[in-house]
Amino acid sequence: MLEDFDFENRVVSPEFSGMDDDTEITLRPKTLDEYIGQSKAKENLNIYIKAAKMRNESLDHVLLYGPPGLGKTTLSGIIAKEMGVNFRVTSGPAIEKQGDLVAILTNLNEGDVLFIDEIHRLPRNVEEILYPAMEDFSLDIIIGKGPSARSIRLDVPHFTLVGATTRSGQLSAPLRDRFGVLLRLDLYTPEELAEIIKRSARILEIPIDDEGALEIASRSRGTPRIANRLLKRVRDIAQIQFDGAITEEVSRTALARFEIDELGLDDFDRRMLTTIINVYGGGPVGLDTLAAAIGEESITLEDVYEPYLMQIGFLTRTPRGRCATSLAYAHLGIPFSENAASKEKDTRIQCDL
Ligand code: ADE
Repeated sequence: MLEDFDFENRVVSPEFSGMDDDTEITLRPKTLDEYIGQSKAKENLNIYIKAAKMRNESLDHVLLYGPPGLGKTTLSGIIAKEMGVNFRVTSGPAIEKQGDLVAILTNLNEGDVLFIDEIHRLPRNVEEILYPAMEDFSLDIIIGKGPSARSIRLDVPHFTLVGATTRSGQLSAPLRDRFGVLLRLDLYTPEELAEIIKRSARILEIPIDDEGALEIASRSRGTPRIANRLLKRVRDIAQIQFDGAITEEVSRTALARFEIDELGLDDFDRRMLTTIINVYGGGPVGLDTLAAAIGEESITLEDVYEPYLMQIGFLTRTPRGRCATSLAYAHLGIPFSENAASKEKDTRIQCDL
């Protein structure tokens, strides 16, 4: 039943905290050279970092956006390391009051990288403090109340703000416009994920062959955080049921046990697609209606589950709602009726696909 599904602890959720933090930190690449994939973002960053260093300046503010689990925090840490400065980390929801941000900003050192995760969740009045800080490296603070209130201007060190968001569309225009560098992170290819898995396996001293790595990679939904987590779980099976080494057969056996199919879909993805197909005739169904039907928040569906289903061509977002595609029907073994075929054609025409 839907109610029984443990969404929080879904093994293929990018947010699942099944891996201890220490391991995740150990596996994080520390330099751009070590960082695999995202070649466009990486090349651009490399140029901007070199140029800023040559001019002896701090790097312009950077906005990283894309689905969760793709390495936004990792990349920010790399920016700090490559620039040779301190790395300070906070997040939008953690900064509740203007004073919290003032304290953070006034404690920075010259050149520091300040990483604000989920920057779209900064309260609006806090965000307003950021504008002059980003633009002129100054803060306008009101001291006192009523007739005796005065505004004073404080200087802050030249810092680099790295903002990360899964929803760049939710960022206010004044904030978005103050970032000099906008970098979109895309889902990784299975080949890139296989490289990441092999690198992690080397660090964790797990024997793995190319086929074993690619098998895990193809089921990791384009997301390194999921790939590294699956690697650790597959290692457990390799140790207990096999001789410790991860091969294609070991990966297949382990992933079947976790009920993750060849494309990385789990029970939740299958339920989402079957709900669209069986309850809403294949769609279109509105996001909120679908979310209510499967007992999940709309935002989570949109940010966490949909990007991969869209990337593999199983789901389309149309102006009238979500639709399951013929590929999804085929994967689930549900006959694609003439009715559904004609709906899909209509959707293609409407969406100009
Ligand atoms: N671990 C997590 N993400 C990674 C990446 N992009 N490159 C190398 N190792 C990683």
